[in-house]
Amino acid sequence: MDGSWGIGHTRWATHGGVTKANAHPHCSCDGKIAVVHNGIIENHHAIRAMLEKMGCPFLSETDTEVIPHLISYYYKEDLVEALKAAVVNLQGTYGIACIHADEPGRIVGARNGSPLVVGVGAGEMFLASDITAMVAYTDKVVYLNDGEIVDIQENHYSIIDREERTVDKKVAQITWELGSIEKGDYPCYMEKEIFEQPESIARALSGRLDVENATAKLGGLNLGRGRLSDVGRVKIIAAGTSWHAGLVGSLLLEQFARIPAQAELASEIRYRNPVVEKDSLWFTVSQSGETADSLYAMREIQRKGATVLGICNVVGSTIARESDGGIYVHSGPEIAVASTKAFTSQLAAFYLFTLFIARMRHLSREEGLSFLASLQEVPAKVAQTLGQRDHVQEIAKKYHKAKDFLFLGRGNLYPIALEGALKLKEISYIHAEGCSAGEMKHGPIALVSPEVPSLFLVSDDFLREKTISNMREIKARGGPIIAVGVEGDKEVAVLADDFIPVPKGDPRFYPFTMVIPLQLFAYFCALELGRDVDQPRNLAKSVTVE
Ligand code: AGP
Repeated sequence: MDGSWGIGHTRWATHGGVTKANAHPHCSCDGKIAVVHNGIIENHHAIRAMLEKMGCPFLSETDTEVIPHLISYYYKEDLVEALKAAVVNLQGTYGIACIHADEPGRIVGARNGSPLVVGVGAGEMFLASDITAMVAYTDKVVYLNDGEIVDIQENHYSIIDREERTVDKKVAQITWELGSIEKGDYPCYMEKEIFEQPESIARALSGRLDVENATAKLGGLNLGRGRLSDVGRVKIIAAGTSWHAGLVGSLLLEQFARIPAQAELASEIRYRNPVVEKDSLWFTVSQSGETADSLYAMREIQRKGATVLGICNVVGSTIARESDGGIYVHSGPEIAVASTKAFTSQLAAFYLFTLFIARMRHLSREEGLSFLASLQEVPAKVAQTLGQRDHVQEIAKKYHKAKDFLFLGRGNLYPIALEGALKLKEISYIHAEGCSAGEMKHGPIALVSPEVPSLFLVSDDFLREKTISNMREIKARGGPIIAVGVEGDKEVAVLADDFIPVPKGDPRFYPFTMVIPLQLFAYFCALELGRDVDQPRNLAKSVTVE
């Protein structure tokens, strides 16, 4: 399209079906005001009824459509003034961008609960909900806070707050490189991101390994030594894949730092009025740093007086800014909806924190050094595991027509089983269930049949024999088995119909390597089925609505 200013939005349907009429932008009756909106207007029914009474025709089923009509109602030759008056009536969450046909070159935005970032270019300006959208055009950004309104023109922007005071903000620098948001030679982002993991994990560890003192260096925790030694309990809140990383983190903290730890679903804890003990330390884990469930849960926990640290990828995201400190995972932009490299970097953050806090307690220098040595080996071991690419592709060709899958693991591989099942569901749309292998006999085993394959994760630690017994139980019932196990494990290789080896190493670190074949398996099944791997149906990369 021709033109020098405009707005657009890929809306994740919340009100009404996925139809052209419900797609953004939405316009005022005279067609002069156009609006795109991320979030949910909770009182849209009441506003709509009022506007309809005034003779305003509605063309969609969306909550958003009330916004251009409201702005139009207040409009008297100045879009900022009209937007200011309109948002006073809105309850709910919004990141809004709007334009008026009579005010060419001007975009006005408002934020409440949904992210909005201004991109500062040379002779051009941007407004987006995420820096990924504009990193190709500028590396200078300004983050808006709730209640702020921004007025953007070709060479200039200004921001006011709820009290109409001008807000002078620091322009932040994005360090992501343009190459990191391009596919390069890969057919899609997901494959690229899977193969980036040796480097992205190395980046998460870079500068943070203190070999001399056999510990980790974590500069952003903002917690004094005394506060850290007093931590009696760790609680982790997150959603989806980030929750799985949190589950691995909670096991690590319990096992190696001997601190009681628990990972909770953000969407659940938020409404549970959780008990917040004085000696508890909380983490929110989020790739995007914008997930509404995680953000609102974090705010609720902070309201109760707790310290909440963030483990985020996107620098400057809302969770990163509002948390009391934290660890950036530095995986670089993750574009594919299915999270892969952010997951392994989140794991790296938990391994670093565990080492750090365990060394402040009982962990000896020798034990710390052994932990560090294993951590340093992770990028190379992940690179070696990626060498299974073609083998996993063959296995995916064999199994992709299955309608249901079981993913089974024990100990620190149980969360990896959950993650493998989520990856397969998300991008191939094959139904998959992640289970603790020990729990299988309490129900899921009823699903086992020659049509339902099971994918086992088999460590070579003390749980190996137990997992092998579970494999035999599946075999006895005619269920096909794929096993991801340790190279050289002949018994597992023989028992399984298909075997994917990962390099032998410290079993505490197998979550890093064992998740790789599962990411590849989901990816190749999705390709075989002709799915849109990077943008699977019904899903959004950052879920900024509840
Ligand atoms: C991961 O593959 C999913 N797309 C999803 O579960 C995601 O992990 C979840 O929505 C949380 O996102 P976040 O890490 O950005 O908070």
